Amino acid sequence: MNSTSENITFAAIPQHIAIIMDGNGRWAQARGLPRLAGHRAGTENLRRIIEACVEFGVKVLTIYAFSTENWGRPQDEVSGLMNLFDDVFERELAELNRQGARLIHIGRTEGIRPGMLKKIHNGEQTTRDNQRLTLCVAFNYGGRDEIVHAIQRIAQDKIPSEEITDELVSRYMYTAGLPDPDLVIRTSGELRTSNFLIWQAAYAEWVFPETFWPDFGREHLMEAIHEYGRRERRFGLITTQP
Ligand code: IPE
Ligand code: IPE
Ligand code: MG
Repeated sequence: MNSTSENITFAAIPQHIAIIMDGNGRWAQARGLPRLAGHRAGTENLRRIIEACVEFGVKVLTIYAFSTENWGRPQDEVSGLMNLFDDVFERELAELNRQGARLIHIGRTEGIRPGMLKKIHNGEQTTRDNQRLTLCVAFNYGGRDEIVHAIQRIAQDKIPSEEITDELVSRYMYTAGLPDPDLVIRTSGELRTSNFLIWQAAYAEWVFPETFWPDFGREHLMEAIHEYGRRERRFGLITTQP
């Protein structure tokens, strides 16, 4: 079935798009700017991608904002990023509400400074009834960390081994209740997962546009969705199977 957004027709619209927003540093470097200027441009770009997702009828957008490994970057970059996120969580709240977007955080809460955690919780509370789009922010997130965290909680809950199923494990992930991503986009031409949604993206389609994240706009997103529509998702089966 074709899905139409105002004046564009897509062969299929992914219900859940996940994005590894990569290339901020190289974007800045190419302009002779400090890396942080790239991160700033990256956060500014988010708004137009959220807007486009709402326009195209995407239901869930997950963005990889900061990984558990990113703490290892130089201290000034990490603190610059934290200040930036601090601003964004506060400043973009009204805009999220205007777009009808619900904010969800996935990742470890330990390690996030208390003031920011408060802003995140406040954002989740304020937007919780919005239904047009779920914006899932992977912040202090790592796929392995998420699996370890899930196993710890399964053990704490003393779940008998025969009850530990694929479906149960999904319910112990940070993404509990969300559909798995259909399409994962990694910008900047890097071809790896970097610990992103390694459980949930088992059968996602992946695209790797060369564009650096701050330049990745509505047209690029459209192209990625068109590419998704040209894929045949087989889930291990064969084409002719009913
Ligand atoms: C992605 O851009 C943003 C974060 C990891 C926070 P990078 O900072 O990784 O940009 P490159 O890969 O160095 O260009
Ligand atoms: C992945 O990008 C993390 C985010 C985009 C937040 P990185 O730039 O940290 O990944 P590597 O180091 O190139 O694998
Ligand atoms: Mg990078």
